[in-house]
Amino acid sequence: MNESCNDKHFSLCNILQKAEQEHKLSKNEIVELLKSDGGLLYKSADRTRKQYKDDFVHLRGLIEFSNICRCNCFYCGLRAENSLIDRYRLTENEILDCANIAIDAGYKTIVLQSGEDMFWDSNKICSLIKKIKQKDVAITLSIGERSYEEYKKFKDIGADRFLLRIETTDKNLYKQLHPNMSFENRVQCLWNLKKLGYETGTGCLVGLPNQTIESLANDILFFKELDADMVGIGPLIPHPNTPLKDANKDNFDMALKVMATVRILMPDINIPATTAMESIRENGRIIALNSGANVVMPNFTESEYRKKYEIYPNKICINDSPKKCMNCIKLKIESIGRKISETKGYRKES
Ligand code: 5AD
Ligand code: SF4
Ligand code: FES
Repeated sequence: MNESCNDKHFSLCNILQKAEQEHKLSKNEIVELLKSDGGLLYKSADRTRKQYKDDFVHLRGLIEFSNICRCNCFYCGLRAENSLIDRYRLTENEILDCANIAIDAGYKTIVLQSGEDMFWDSNKICSLIKKIKQKDVAITLSIGERSYEEYKKFKDIGADRFLLRIETTDKNLYKQLHPNMSFENRVQCLWNLKKLGYETGTGCLVGLPNQTIESLANDILFFKELDADMVGIGPLIPHPNTPLKDANKDNFDMALKVMATVRILMPDINIPATTAMESIRENGRIIALNSGANVVMPNFTESEYRKKYEIYPNKICINDSPKKCMNCIKLKIESIGRKISETKGYRKES
């Protein structure tokens, strides 16, 4: 299958060969892949991506419409107890203006992301969805945990997709890092979204304190069990105003390995080259696109608010305009011989 299979890599090659054919591995086999140096794994993920998703890259226009959050996730700069950030909330008209910039530029998906900001009750979210859906675009929500009834209302009025990372499937670790939150409820939210017919996205953070390779393998098995339609993998980037300020910074390679493994085991799903990857490694999104990813989510939040959506430090593009990012990412994608898709980019295109 691969000319670089030799004695040294024999067992790794066998595992990858099986994974590419069957898209199924045991936990121990996944652990072997994550312990490897990544070279063969990235090539295998890139082959799988090309076979199942061709050379198309789907662009999603991301609008970070509120940085207000009721939660206190230990790693996140938007956590409620961080009093050092300036909070903002865009108005409905401001959000619609951002969405129109993306739509006029040909974007076919708008991603509405915020902290868990309860000012945005279901009526307000529904009104927003209804207005954006007057144009021919898909809508992805990324607004955290809500009730089944609310998720149903959003779906009924036109939302297509939902992103809710599980963050970690290690229950104890989840508990330690998410005060006053329930792991069981988060898992239930994901099953509710699936049941309601959303294209459902989840994912995890890589590099959490005390997170093991075995636990990352469990995360991958969970994505498969849920049959997630999208999986976003982010390297943890320690934020100075959070309890995890002293955590390990060097999480790029492991995040890339987790992402590549997900591609091989879930060959037809959508996988973003995450902003966090580029924030800690030059050209990180291009490296990700060459290691299994097929989606990029350029930021359409207007400049004055961007820097305030500081989930982690040194986030890219905080001083750039939507127009600059649009052009920048287009050039980058074309420079590696990939094509920008003009479809809505569902997992299974009809
Ligand atoms: N580093 C990297 N990613 C982070 N997120 C939150 N805080 C950090 C951080 N310090 C991610 C979480 C969340 C997503 C919106 O941002 O995984 O789901
Ligand atoms: Fe809020 Fe999401 Fe940050 Fe947690 S990760 S504090 S839910 S914005
Ligand atoms: Fe924002 Fe490159 S994507 S400047």
